[in-house]
Amino acid sequence: MANKNLNKAKEAKKDEFYTQLEDINNELRHYREHFRGKTVLCNCDDPRVSNFFKYFAYNFEFLGLKKLIATCYKSQDVNLFSEGTSEEAVYLVYEGDKNGNNIPDEDEIEVLPLKGDGDFRSAECIEFLKEANIVVTNPPFSLFREYVAQLIKYDKKFLIIGNVNAVTYKEIFPLIMSNQIWFGASI
Ligand SMILES: C[S@@+](CC[C@H](N)C(=O)[O-])C[C@H]1O[C@@H](n2cnc3c(N)ncnc32)[C@H](O)[C@@H]1O
Repeated sequence: MANKNLNKAKEAKKDEFYTQLEDINNELRHYREHFRGKTVLCNCDDPRVSNFFKYFAYNFEFLGLKKLIATCYKSQDVNLFSEGTSEEAVYLVYEGDKNGNNIPDEDEIEVLPLKGDGDFRSAECIEFLKEANIVVTNPPFSLFREYVAQLIKYDKKFLIIGNVNAVTYKEIFPLIMSNQIWFGASI
């Protein structure tokens, strides 16, 4: 029981690892031309702390994005290792700079409540997935397999910055072998 709880705690800790802006920049700079006119979804991203959201919001015009959507998960598993900072699950929509200062100002970002907890597998989050052209995030490590399976199921283009150990998963390795997914340029 103690071991089980410790493992759960370790997983929760890994699940709450936030990606550095520098790592996002280093990888994303290789794909700039792919984002023109596209809707980007960050579906494991509390925008208050997500550098993915920051990256796309601040580079919105530079990349020529059409729309940025971020969904924020409300952690149900509040324990010592889970940040659980979000009080409610919300989603954000940013459609670019309106006042000409090239900065995503607060009043230009729509913050709207979700009906559920923001789980990327929920029906409402799947609707965002369907709308998106490209999904970019670092998902929870413990749900990596399910996360990738969903992207493949919905035939989405995606870019994941995550724990490289995931490539050894029996569900992930075949996708690499069949060239459905591949290592990023910065690895
Ligand atoms: C590894 S962290 C990365 C956070 C952020 N994407 C980043 O890179 O900084 C994974 C995030 O997924 C969230 N999360 C956990 N379970 C989730 C779920 N079922 N659906 C959506 N997000 C989830 C966690 O709260 C956590 O913030």
